[in-house]
Amino acid sequence: MHPESHTPPSEIIILPSVLAADWSCMGDEVRRAEAAGARRLHLDVMDGAFVDNISFGPNMVKTIRGVTDLYLDTHLMIHRADHYLQRFIDAGTHNITVHVEAHYDTSLAETLGRIRAAGLQCGLALNPATPLDAALPYLHQIDLLLVMTVVPGFGGQSFMEKETMPKLAAARDYRDTHGLHFHLQVDGGIYPDTAGIAARHGANLLVCGTSSFGPPDMTAALHELATAARSPA
Ligand code: DX5
Ligand code: ZN
Repeated sequence: MHPESHTPPSEIIILPSVLAADWSCMGDEVRRAEAAGARRLHLDVMDGAFVDNISFGPNMVKTIRGVTDLYLDTHLMIHRADHYLQRFIDAGTHNITVHVEAHYDTSLAETLGRIRAAGLQCGLALNPATPLDAALPYLHQIDLLLVMTVVPGFGGQSFMEKETMPKLAAARDYRDTHGLHFHLQVDGGIYPDTAGIAARHGANLLVCGTSSFGPPDMTAALHELATAARSPA
C-alpha cells in the first residue's frame, strides 16, 4: 500500500490533474508537480463515448508511474471500466474511480469489489446531474466519493456551485452520521475561491487542472489553493 493510502479524510490534499499539463514533456511536468509539493496526481481517462472527448489509456498511466512514486488517482470517464480494469491495475495506479452513470459488463458493485481485491483504493464519481441517492448503495465499499463540479470531458470549465454544493454537503452529512470514512473529492473549475467553497461543504481532495499546471510557479499555486481550502469562511 502507498503511504498516502492511510491519509484520513480530514486532510486537505490538492491533486494536480495532468490533463492540463504540457503533454510534449509529460515526464518533466510530473516532476514539476512533484517538486511543487504535490502528493497525488489525478489522471483523467476519457473514452469518447461516456464523455465527448478522448484523452489517454493505461499506457500513459504506466508511463507516468515510471517517472514518479506519487500516489496516482485515476479517474475513469469510460463505459465498461470492468472490461479494461486489469490493464489499469497492471499500469500501477493506486486508486481507480469509476462513474455511477457508466455501463458495465458485470456490475458497478462487482467492479468496485475487484478494485479493492487487487489492493487498490477505489472511488465512485457522480456527474453534476446525478443525485446522491444513486451512490448510496455503494458507499460502504469506496474510499472516495467524487462529486463532479463540472460536466466531465474537458478542463477549464466553470464550477457548478448551485448544482453540486448541496449534494456535497449532503454526502458529508450522510458519511458522518453513518460512521463511514470515505474521502470527498471535487473535480472541475477548482481555483482558490472555489476551493474554499468546496472545502467548506466537505471536500478534502481537490482536483486542480488549469489552476495547478497553468501558472508558471506551481509551488505557489498549490500553496494558495491549499491555504484557501484550509481557511474558514
Ligand atoms: C474534467 C476532468 C478534470 C479536469 C479538471 O472532465 O475530470 O479532472 O482535469 O480541469 P480544471 O481544473 O481545469 O477544471
Ligand atoms: Zn477528473
